[in-house]
Amino acid sequence: MEKGFILWFTGLSGSGKTTISKALEPELRARGCKVEILDGDVVRTNLSKGLGFSKEDRDTNILRIGFVAHLLSRNGVVAITAAISPYRAIRGEVRAMEPNFVEIYVKASLEVCESRDVKGLYAKARAGEIKGFTGIDDPYEEPLNPEIVCNTAQESVSESVTKILSKLEDLGYI
Ligand code: ADX
Repeated sequence: MEKGFILWFTGLSGSGKTTISKALEPELRARGCKVEILDGDVVRTNLSKGLGFSKEDRDTNILRIGFVAHLLSRNGVVAITAAISPYRAIRGEVRAMEPNFVEIYVKASLEVCESRDVKGLYAKARAGEIKGFTGIDDPYEEPLNPEIVCNTAQESVSESVTKILSKLEDLGYI
């Protein structure tokens, strides 16, 4: 059976988690991996439907994603997750339950993410229409020791993908 592992993307809304994970997927398949993406926005329409954005609900969301990712991973699937996952402690809990865990910090400043404002949500948060928006009036705790950092203000999507693939080779996952 192929080796499964979790690729855990974390970063602000608009940092590039979904974009990079989607670009990575075909590259991993081309190398013989089975891949499943658990994207925050998608998960919140099914597995985590009804959850909000309090710390408690975000932690519940992350533990659910981590649980499913772990099930996939132990069955030989590369489980890619792309949720903000703003709290360091809960990311650590998922890491602790999964031996094959690779954390990717998709790093872009709030200014950059806000200027992209792909979904128009930063504008709403600034206008006070959304309360508790990550980076505006809710915390984002940067990873201290991520396996990979993608600086998306400086590198292209394909540069980030190449960097991730080469690190996965170094780590012996692919
Ligand atoms: S997490 O904090 O629980 O990891 P998740 O990645 O699932 O978050 O969902 C984040 C997405 O929900 C954002 O990209 C954005 O589209 C939307 N969203 C709606 N309200 C908020 C909020 N208050 N803070 C952050 N994202 C929000």
